[in-house]
Amino acid sequence: MYQSKIKGLGKYVPENIVTNDDLAKIMDTSNEWIVERTGIQERRHIDKKTEDTTAIMGKKAAVQAIERAGIATNEIDLIVFATLSPDYYFPGCGVQIQDLLGIHTCPAIDVRNQCSGFVYALSIADQFIKTGMYKNVLVIGSENHSGGLDMTTRGRSVSVIFGDGAGAAVVSRSEEKGQGILSTHLHSQGEYAKELSLIGPSTNYWVPEIIAENPQEDIPYFPYMNGQLVFKNAVVRFSEVIMEGLKHNQLEVSDLDMLIPHQANLRISQFIQKKFKLTDDQVYNNIQRYGNTTAASIPIALTEAWEEGKIKEGDHVVLAAFGSGFTWASAIIKW
Ligand code: UT7
Repeated sequence: MYQSKIKGLGKYVPENIVTNDDLAKIMDTSNEWIVERTGIQERRHIDKKTEDTTAIMGKKAAVQAIERAGIATNEIDLIVFATLSPDYYFPGCGVQIQDLLGIHTCPAIDVRNQCSGFVYALSIADQFIKTGMYKNVLVIGSENHSGGLDMTTRGRSVSVIFGDGAGAAVVSRSEEKGQGILSTHLHSQGEYAKELSLIGPSTNYWVPEIIAENPQEDIPYFPYMNGQLVFKNAVVRFSEVIMEGLKHNQLEVSDLDMLIPHQANLRISQFIQKKFKLTDDQVYNNIQRYGNTTAASIPIALTEAWEEGKIKEGDHVVLAAFGSGFTWASAIIKW
């Protein structure tokens, strides 16, 4: 069995900053409501005049991660791409990255696990490396939410939360025993699939049916979230999956040096921090600046925490996510 290690990290966010006050100009909301309920102060939205798409943002984050990993692009053996907002209904963004980066004919897997997508993707990379099949796996989480949100008062409970961006990691084979990705823990509970979903268009609810049923309304095109139910499940599952990972590695909460929670809501992160009695230095949050970027949120936060020198060699870093599916997941890493 080999070890797998995160060798390089990268991120990209669009330049266009959208503040809460900007949103209050186009829908009935306020800076006070958004900050108090979510912690978000601003988020990035793709400027449609730029080239940015989910795949292109993913490529930009990937280029940085590959450079920092110190490997040649052609040494990537596998791409795993997590997103809920792909450029096309099909094919997925993974093959676009293979083309955009010009990586020989390497395989590309697309992951559809929303907020947990990056941790699922990381787990796939980890398994392929540990079994010896691949040496370098490029893992990307990227989202273009802004193009598909209901930016009227009707959609405000969802649209103020989400933002655009991308993060990437190069996961590589390592010989250092007891270091790198120690374990990953993945879960799902499909009975709640519709509680945070975008149900159309899909093969069960295809464009002609949507148009026929909703001549005036375009609600089915937009994401739906049962916010309170999602919140209640999130705080429970976050705690469970963090403890599951720690216990699996015979670690205590006191061994945890850095928790990178999926940036769903600052109140959720603060709840977990309080529950586990962690200090501000042990939990990294950047939802204030980017909103919830779903599959991109963990790799963006991990990249920034690393860039800011908050993760040191030998640290126990825990990634934890919960979201649509419902799915939830954690990864325990010894840096
Ligand atoms: O990343 C995937 C996982 N996602 C999550 O974990 C998100 C979990 N859920 C949440 O973060 C919170 O439920 C929200 C931030 C989405 C909503 O916060 P809340 O405290 O649960 O608010 P609420 O939905 O109970 O709404 C409270 C009030 C309602 O008005 P009434 O019925 O009390 O008159 C809403 O209509 O706030 C109203 N409201 C807003 N007001 C101003 C909802 N959205 C907005 C808004 N601006 N943007």
